[in-house]
Amino acid sequence: MIRIIVAGFKGRMGSTATKMVLAHENFELVGVLDPYAKEKNINELAEYSEQNVPVFKTKEALVNEIEAAVWIDFTIPDVAYKNTRFALEHKIAPVVGTTGFSEEQVLDLQKCAKEQKVGGLIAPNFAVGAVLMMQFAKKAVEYFPDVEIIELHHDNKLDAPSGTAIKTAEMLAEVRKSKKQGNPEEKETLPGARGANYDGMRIHSVRLPGLIAHQQVQFGSIGEGLTIRHDSYDRSSFMTGVALGCQKVVDLEELIYGLEHLL
Ligand SMILES: NC(=O)c1ccc[n+]([C@@H]2O[C@H](COP(=O)([O-])OP(=O)(O)OC[C@H]3O[C@@H](n4cnc5c(N)ncnc54)[C@H](O)[C@@H]3O)[C@@H](O)[C@H]2O)c1
Repeated sequence: MIRIIVAGFKGRMGSTATKMVLAHENFELVGVLDPYAKEKNINELAEYSEQNVPVFKTKEALVNEIEAAVWIDFTIPDVAYKNTRFALEHKIAPVVGTTGFSEEQVLDLQKCAKEQKVGGLIAPNFAVGAVLMMQFAKKAVEYFPDVEIIELHHDNKLDAPSGTAIKTAEMLAEVRKSKKQGNPEEKETLPGARGANYDGMRIHSVRLPGLIAHQQVQFGSIGEGLTIRHDSYDRSSFMTGVALGCQKVVDLEELIYGLEHLL
């Protein structure tokens, strides 16, 4: 059994991950963390009334009392870096879905994991279909260098653009020659109209109630267009990837960025 803690367990993703861990035959949920939780045990909540798992408000209290092999993190961009470093320093392998990491932070955490000889995974998107969408887009950009990324999320999301959009742009930039798109003379009459600029590619962030997580990578060429789109209709779409990550990280001694490296 892999002993797992879930940080951010009261959130939308954290609660979905908590249920996945409880239902998985190879996982044992040994503690949960959320500074805003009022409960001392998850059994105080009707949905977990049959489960006996302690709730912690601080990560320090958690590691004082609990031994775990894996730290699932679905918290907020401001704390995820500190949480991930803390987990590595305490020899707990992080499986992180929280987005908003800078490139420097990912590199720093990878260095820390190597020093600690602990495995880990940061995945901006745990949905298998989203990983395929990024890989197909990377293939298409070899032939269609004019591309715009449109990511669409629910209106409670804190960071923009999404981690998936940034990861996609990074993957496309690995094979696409740097190029500024659109008319060289173009002017924005409303600032932001052309979206964010990543190496000449434009990224547009849509935020609307009712959405979960969606992304469209749209290519244009002479007389033709190609659109590659992925939709997460439900947060359960991310759980196959999270479960896979939890099973793999315990055998690693490095921190991996992107689920595609584990598929
Ligand atoms: N990688 C993926 O596949 C994927 C998919 C969807 C969402 N996300 C990301 O997951 C993150 C969480 O999204 P959400 O919709 O569940 O957000 P949410 O706001 O519903 O939940 C965040 C939770 O984190 C808790 N929290 C805040 N500070 C904390 C701390 N110091 N320690 C522990 N918990 C803390 C909050 O109390 C809250 O319960 C976001 O960054 C989002 O972009 C990733």
